[in-house]
Amino acid sequence: MTRRLIIDTDGGIDDAVAIWWAASDPRIDLVGVTTVGGVVSAEDAARNVLLVLEAAGRPDVPVAIGANDRLGPSPELRPADFIHGSDGLGNTVRGRVPAGTPLHGAIPLLDRLIDGMTSIVSLGPLTNLARLALELPRQAAAVDQLVIMGGAAAGGGNALPDGEANIAHDPSAAAVVVGAGWANPPLMIGLDVTHAATLDDSDFALLAEKRTPAAAFLDAPLRFYRPFGATFTAPACPCHDFATVLAFIESSFVTDAPILPLAIATAPGPAWGSTIVDFRAPAFARSGGSEQASPDGFADWRIGLGVDRALFRRRARQLFGD
Ligand code: BDR
Ligand code: CA
Repeated sequence: MTRRLIIDTDGGIDDAVAIWWAASDPRIDLVGVTTVGGVVSAEDAARNVLLVLEAAGRPDVPVAIGANDRLGPSPELRPADFIHGSDGLGNTVRGRVPAGTPLHGAIPLLDRLIDGMTSIVSLGPLTNLARLALELPRQAAAVDQLVIMGGAAAGGGNALPDGEANIAHDPSAAAVVVGAGWANPPLMIGLDVTHAATLDDSDFALLAEKRTPAAAFLDAPLRFYRPFGATFTAPACPCHDFATVLAFIESSFVTDAPILPLAIATAPGPAWGSTIVDFRAPAFARSGGSEQASPDGFADWRIGLGVDRALFRRRARQLFGD
């Protein structure tokens, strides 16, 4: 049985890998893509998504431009052009115009597509999904499975000392999404997972052979991405959003994902934009210490902690033509 999926994305390079995979995996029915400002503007992200979908032979997938404005105050972040290029795809698509035209408004497309059997994978700041939860809570509650790339359960960050980029771009939106009334506990794929799912020299060498249309399209962007994308894992290189789509479709990919209370730090200060996981919860549950319940603002999520790196590399190499 195929699984209906909507991707919400900020149009970067690892997003492109994830979208190509989702558009071509026969287990996934990619029914729509919505964009959000993050790596680039929501408009440029839509251009990138359309170019990826057209190169992948899926011009039929509707793409809608979502939010650029943040839901609430957010920390000042350095633009991501040094990782993703000023166009979001490693300066490979500047001036290129897709054949297709994006729709305007993520919420109307989400409203039209969500039907109780549809899941969402979020690969950017959580602004669109927070708006969905606030404006159409019944539709949010009808989402089958929500998987987000964001945060870091063990602490630490990439965009800030304790802030992963997708959360830090719009902490208020992330807090709304964490506390919304989802039907099933959502899955957080943070840096704990994505920094452990990496590509190495041999994978990049295979990519450079351009054996598949995917490799031909993705080689130049991923080569641009690698030097800074690998900052915390060098010489191996993560591909955060690709790992997140795999977490959705490969049941054995995330090897450890306990349900734990999750919250977002929304107040200005050193931890602004960080994820806080209450790792005390299982121990308190075992000892019957219910008076030590997590404070307000926490909600139960599945927190990805372990990952099958070999499977990650196998899937990437499959995409690249192994
Ligand atoms: C996340 O931030 C963006 O730069 C990437 O596309 C990914 O979604 C990683 O922190
Ligand atoms: Ca992204």
